[in-house]
Amino acid sequence: MKSIQYSAPAKVIISGEHAVVYGKPALVCAINKRLSIKFTPAKKTIYIDDIFPKLERFVLDFLKLKKEKINKIEYSYSVESSIPMGRGLGSSAAYCACISAGLLELFTGREWSKEEINMCAYKMEKYFHKNSSGVDTSTSVMGGLIYYRKEFEFLKTISSLAIKIPKHFIDSLVLIDTGKPVETTGEMVQSVGALYNKNSKKMEIIFNEIEKATKRIIVSLMKEDLSFFIDNIKENQDLLGQIGVVSEKTKILLNDLKTYGVGKITGGGGKIDSSGYILFLCKNKDECIRQLEKKSISYLQFLPSYTGLIKEL
Ligand code: PMV
Repeated sequence: MKSIQYSAPAKVIISGEHAVVYGKPALVCAINKRLSIKFTPAKKTIYIDDIFPKLERFVLDFLKLKKEKINKIEYSYSVESSIPMGRGLGSSAAYCACISAGLLELFTGREWSKEEINMCAYKMEKYFHKNSSGVDTSTSVMGGLIYYRKEFEFLKTISSLAIKIPKHFIDSLVLIDTGKPVETTGEMVQSVGALYNKNSKKMEIIFNEIEKATKRIIVSLMKEDLSFFIDNIKENQDLLGQIGVVSEKTKILLNDLKTYGVGKITGGGGKIDSSGYILFLCKNKDECIRQLEKKSISYLQFLPSYTGLIKEL
């Protein structure tokens, strides 16, 4: 048997993080950073990290549930990634997507559908993020611009949108790194959960407002209306601040950069110190980048990717 290699993209949540855990929609875009895993049949499996055997277990359980004949062959594997880790860009989702696709194929000798791979990857992602909505793995598997909504475990809308992010929006966007949050996404989801348990009425109001902002952002993309997009990114950031997922340090940074544009955190966020990446809309990109470089703040270009999970040849 030959080697099997899969790669999957990172993602940026444009709007709807956290609210998506409570059944609200999220708008997410895959980006041009990728993670890939190569599996090669070997005499004995050598795990290069402690988590891998647990993730492998999810694949085996998934296959058992499907009553699939398993040929648990031994293998070695190697991982390559250009996705920054633990900063809200979906590195763990791309990891889960590639492990699911690779091991499902390795243990059964056949390729699996994206829907099935996503189902398996979602179960794995829950190991990392506990009450995860599934938005990250779905976007990594599908690629492109995704509208995601989970009503129940058994009822999820995962729609690939036909619209694209207009070029003049992309040309104004950058991803600013505020640093790796102290908290994991799972812990951030839990902290929002604690606020919800304390005051569910107030949180429902905020989540409803986030839903409206998400929908208005979709309209702004359709109408190619950049100023409407900016208004709603601002609104979204404000609402995320209200649910306690933006640190003081990140708020100060956004305030310092306000002459250059507006931004919002993307992903789980962080409240103690850093909040991961910020999706930032520059008024003038060259000036904005000059300022980031002057302040030694690292950033990435925002480049959408319409390629989801793929088998590398
Ligand atoms: O994994 P992150 O940090 O990109 O965040 C995922 C988005 C959340 O809404 C915070 C959690 C979830 O599972 O939807």
